[in-house]
Amino acid sequence: MTGRQVTRVLPHTTQTAAGEPPVLAPAVTLQGVTVSYTPQSRPALDVERLVVERGERVAIIGPSGAGKTTLLRLINGYVQPDAGQVTVLGTEITAHPSRRQDVRRRVGFVFQDFSLIDRATTFENVLWGRLGRVNPLWSVLGWFSEVDKHAAMDAVVEVDLTQQTRQRADTLSGGQQQRVGVARVLAQQAEIILADEPVSNLDPALADDILGLLAEVSERYGATLIMSVHQPALAQRYAERIIGLNQGRIAYDGSARALNGQALQAIYGRKVITDVPPLVTQVSDAEVPPEVTVDVTPMPARTRSASGERIIPS
Ligand SMILES: Nc1ncnc2c1ncn2[C@@H]1O[C@H](COP(=O)(O)OP(=O)(O)O)[C@@H](O)[C@H]1O
Ligand SMILES: [Mg+2]
Repeated sequence: MTGRQVTRVLPHTTQTAAGEPPVLAPAVTLQGVTVSYTPQSRPALDVERLVVERGERVAIIGPSGAGKTTLLRLINGYVQPDAGQVTVLGTEITAHPSRRQDVRRRVGFVFQDFSLIDRATTFENVLWGRLGRVNPLWSVLGWFSEVDKHAAMDAVVEVDLTQQTRQRADTLSGGQQQRVGVARVLAQQAEIILADEPVSNLDPALADDILGLLAEVSERYGATLIMSVHQPALAQRYAERIIGLNQGRIAYDGSARALNGQALQAIYGRKVITDVPPLVTQVSDAEVPPEVTVDVTPMPARTRSASGERIIPS
């Protein structure tokens, strides 16, 4: 690959007083937010304050039912809070519901079950990521500009699926299907990439592969990455910051490196074996697979140069 331009997302800024340099609005701000699906039950999510800055790589962990999916869906406006303010990329979507669609166009979503159109090709699925960017009438007619097609093809190359460009999605392997899911949000030029358990349907080697890809491309495209991850070890390896949820509340919010046995106990609410060296921690929690040993192997070295060429590891 030579001469390929990486399409960078355009930063959106907040207004400041005249003469002051513009300030980039945080990716996400939650203030006094509660979400309840049923009036009688305790809120599925109850967050006093949460700020995710632009460019952060955040993993959300917590037991099943802790509110991970609810938090992600709140950010792209698919779930409305019953109290509080949600501000995404500088727009308070709770105060301006009409702007929700505009914000959603700038927020990409990678799904656990890949959510591809089976009969469509890799390329067509990725092109679908451009839908929010084309005139609605044109999109109904299936008309995409050369710019759209180039963006889609760039994304296909980016995730290493050039050979599978014309292959039907339902004939791809699971790992390849999730690569299409990642390419779709790249073609969308998403400023925030949300991923809800993106590797839960993949075997461990592929899980590493896809999380590595998500971490790498979000960094390279300057996007903010917020992903829920079932295994703390993976979260720790691929995110810089970890948000641990327990029954809808933030039980831990800190650096990935500082996530220790005590923090895991607060998040998973069960006994945690801590008589092991720091940062090598086992959780005795049926929710978490028994092999959850938090090792802190750093993210593998980048395997590509900034211009997209593969770097052969020495
Ligand atoms: N559509 C829904 N209707 C009713 N309750 C829901 C719905 N979605 C989620 N919940 C409840 O909200 C809580 C948080 O769920 P969820 O956000 O899916 O957690 P997680 O993704 O961490 O497993 C759970 O108690 C779940 O049962
Ligand atoms: Mg979930």
